[in-house]
Amino acid sequence: MIISSKYSRHVGATLHEGDCRDFLRTIPRNSATLIVTSPPYNIGKPYETRRLTIDRYLHGQNEVINECARILHPRGSICWQVGNYVSDHEVVPLDILLYPKFKARGLRLRNRIVWTFEHGLHCKRRFSGRHETILWLTKSEEYVFDLDPVRVPQKYPGKRHFRGPNRGAYSSNPLGKNPGDVWSIPNVKANHPEKTIHPCQFPIELAGRLILALTRPGSLVVDPFTGVGSTGAAAVITGRRFAGAEVVPQYCRIARQRIAAAVEGSLRFRAFAKPIYVPPPDSPLLRRTDLEPEEIDSTSLRRNVGIRYPTVG
Ligand SMILES: C[S@@+](CC[C@H](N)C(=O)[O-])C[C@H]1O[C@@H](n2cnc3c(N)ncnc32)[C@H](O)[C@@H]1O
Repeated sequence: MIISSKYSRHVGATLHEGDCRDFLRTIPRNSATLIVTSPPYNIGKPYETRRLTIDRYLHGQNEVINECARILHPRGSICWQVGNYVSDHEVVPLDILLYPKFKARGLRLRNRIVWTFEHGLHCKRRFSGRHETILWLTKSEEYVFDLDPVRVPQKYPGKRHFRGPNRGAYSSNPLGKNPGDVWSIPNVKANHPEKTIHPCQFPIELAGRLILALTRPGSLVVDPFTGVGSTGAAAVITGRRFAGAEVVPQYCRIARQRIAAAVEGSLRFRAFAKPIYVPPPDSPLLRRTDLEPEEIDSTSLRRNVGIRYPTVG
């Protein structure tokens, strides 16, 4: 597959090096079944040349959202994945500020998905942030939504109806259950197989789950803030078309390589729906050999386990 730099509905993948607003204007209206993206959070990452005031940041986002609403197919979806902007230690949830921009264009919120993960900064004066959100909005009431490809295993697959006409029959869907709106997917840090030089790429599975549920094979998936191409790779892996833009040439190069590797089938990525790693009980990483057992017992963790909470009655 050739990765084009100019959008055409006849190519499988397009990647524009430059500002997404220029690129989006080249895509005809009603073309994209899904726009999935993680925009810059304005928190001083290396690719953010300067921190903008929150008003200027929202103004820039508004311009991009405007173009996204224009190119979105009437049965299509927008998924905007964001975290928090932090100003003088005060946390500002970006999805709350951005929601009115979507609403003003008639887009309808279907889910506010919470993405949870285990790794990140350790905060000293507040609880460490371990989730971000995805606003999933549609252009109309008639939208593509296919649950079966993204079902997850049932907790009790052997459960049966215990009364009524179906008594004795299995009560759960054999294809699995709805994954819900809280998704636990490891974020891309240190030893993750997808890690590149980008400071905040999202996992391919995150985009992959949205693509599988909200589009059909051959649909167009757009990511205006492509980064190193995680959405593009997810689109190719799932047999969809992709179009995206990235302003930093180095990230654009890596995105191109990753999308090409996805086409060839040689891209390394964490398998979709792979269970999260839990260290085995005999792992040496669970023990401190520099502490005597009494010292271990006296750590705050052990002490706290002994706290008795008042019970009712
Ligand atoms: C949060 S990162 C996206 C990472 C991406 N989801 C991935 O997995 O690689 C946001 C990206 O948007 C890019 N960017 C910022 N402003 C842009 C603009 N106006 N047009 C295109 N890309 C932009 C940044 O360089 C950065 O790589």
